[in-house]
Amino acid sequence: MSEAASITQNATSSTMFPTLGGGLAGRLLPEVQTLELLLAVSIFVAIHSLRQRRSQGLPCWPLVGMLPSLLLGLRSDMYEWITGVLASRGGTFTFRGPWFTNLQCVVTADPRNLEHLLKTRFGSFPKGPYFRDTVRDLLGDGIFGADDETWRAQRKAASLEFHSAEFRALTASSLVELVHRRLLPVLAHAEAEGESIDLQDVLLRLTFDNVCMIAFGVDPGCLSPGLPEIPFARAFEDATEATIVRFVTPTAVWRAMRALGVGHERVLRRSLAGVDAFAYDVIRKRKEEVAGADGRGGGGGGGRSSDLLTVFTKMRDEEGRPVYSDKFLRDICVNFILAGRDTSSVALAWFFWLLGNNPGVEARILDEIEGIVAARNNKQNAGEVEEELVFHPEEVKRMDYLHAALSEALRLYPSVPVDHKEVVEDEVFPDGTVLKKGTKVIYAMYAMGRMESIWGDDCREYKPERWLRDGRFMSESAYKFTAFNGGPRLCLGKDFAYYQMKFAAASILHRYRVDVVEGHPVAPKMALTMYMKYGLKVRLAKRDKSKL
Ligand code: HEM
Repeated sequence: MSEAASITQNATSSTMFPTLGGGLAGRLLPEVQTLELLLAVSIFVAIHSLRQRRSQGLPCWPLVGMLPSLLLGLRSDMYEWITGVLASRGGTFTFRGPWFTNLQCVVTADPRNLEHLLKTRFGSFPKGPYFRDTVRDLLGDGIFGADDETWRAQRKAASLEFHSAEFRALTASSLVELVHRRLLPVLAHAEAEGESIDLQDVLLRLTFDNVCMIAFGVDPGCLSPGLPEIPFARAFEDATEATIVRFVTPTAVWRAMRALGVGHERVLRRSLAGVDAFAYDVIRKRKEEVAGADGRGGGGGGGRSSDLLTVFTKMRDEEGRPVYSDKFLRDICVNFILAGRDTSSVALAWFFWLLGNNPGVEARILDEIEGIVAARNNKQNAGEVEEELVFHPEEVKRMDYLHAALSEALRLYPSVPVDHKEVVEDEVFPDGTVLKKGTKVIYAMYAMGRMESIWGDDCREYKPERWLRDGRFMSESAYKFTAFNGGPRLCLGKDFAYYQMKFAAASILHRYRVDVVEGHPVAPKMALTMYMKYGLKVRLAKRDKSKL
């Protein structure tokens, strides 16, 4: 453009917009500059935040911290997202939430750190008051949320009980009853009708009934023909879900909702009333039975001498008074039901799904089962043995390959995918991570099962053989295979859970081929327990015994 033309244009501009030259233009200029400045600052902050991805694993934004990445992770598969971040950070990273929340925590999948927090420095990493206060209405002073002496006393008493011969006998007999009188008939009905069933739902019912028999000495009957809804089971389920909502609600908000009796707090209050009514009724009856048996000089607790409730009801102090109040007995039982009800069932559901994709593994399990059946020195004719076959405890114990296959399923799909602790004094992890007093620590069991650094290049493959040496099952360090926790708070029900899972799996597999319905979607649900989000729809086909 020529100088003249340029001058003309400038002149025209000032004629058309007389005020621009002096007034408005003058006023807008600083605003334009402010905008530019803001833009420059934003670009700088964005680059800085994104650069932090390199140093901290995730971009960290002003005010909201790493929340945007978390929300994106939640939209896909949260556990896989955590696994990816942890793998890129060498096993540990610090999550920084929005400045106005308490969403700051250290997430780890490093076995050295796990050993440090679960065993070496156990005292520095309790469950903590935050967890206890949040779950108190449901769990009271029970083992799951307790620390220090309250935890120690229950752990000791329950541990003695879990290792007693009577308890083992109770677990074995309750399982025979549930699997042979209830589970197999339900499966047989579905097979005969050619119906598909949700195997996860059936297994959840099995373990709920079973853990109630162990804890309370009563059978609620969830696993019955027609799969009925049982009020106590419904109340327990609702109370657990409403309690979990508290973990994602600011404390002041759920407390206010509880005081007002609204929203999920209303559901919680109502369902707790159902749980308590059932629990206190069983406690009252059991006390009468125990008193009656004492009066008769029996002490047998009405023939249910080895369930937890009877054992704890009978405990006396030096002066002969009951050690535990009714409220405490209720807490003990509710905690055991919570700990034992869904864990083994969801593990079994994932196991059956994995078998569907790994026919070679299924074939080896069947070989093992049939070898055990063949080894029975039984004089009965073969047909009768097949119909009546009930596995004996020592046979279940000999199922090493099945034990390995279940452990391998738990490695890839741990029933408790993440767990947490709170640090009560300043600490440093073996990998150098500094933990200030009050920091929340999350240990990611799901991610640990998928770390090449822990399990090697084939860590994502389902390979039960990695658990076997010369055909015998070899356990792994509890800080590497963390599905059952480790250290002093190692799962109390671990042996029972393996027995339960092996007995149920062998009894089903011996009789049926379990085919996952084609196209059935499979994904984990975001919850404290690793449920299959859409259940596990299967069809059953009777095994052709002549081919076994
Ligand atoms: C596959 C099955 C199971 C798995 C994967 C499993 C896993 C776990 C885990 C990860 C913990 C630690 C939880 C925490 O402290 O936050 C735990 C604790 C516990 N589990 Fe299990 N569990 C299973 C079955 C059972 C069963 C069947 C029972 C009882 C009948 C049971 C009873 C307990 C108890 C009482 C605790 C608390 C121990 C303590 O705090 O001292 N578990 N379990």
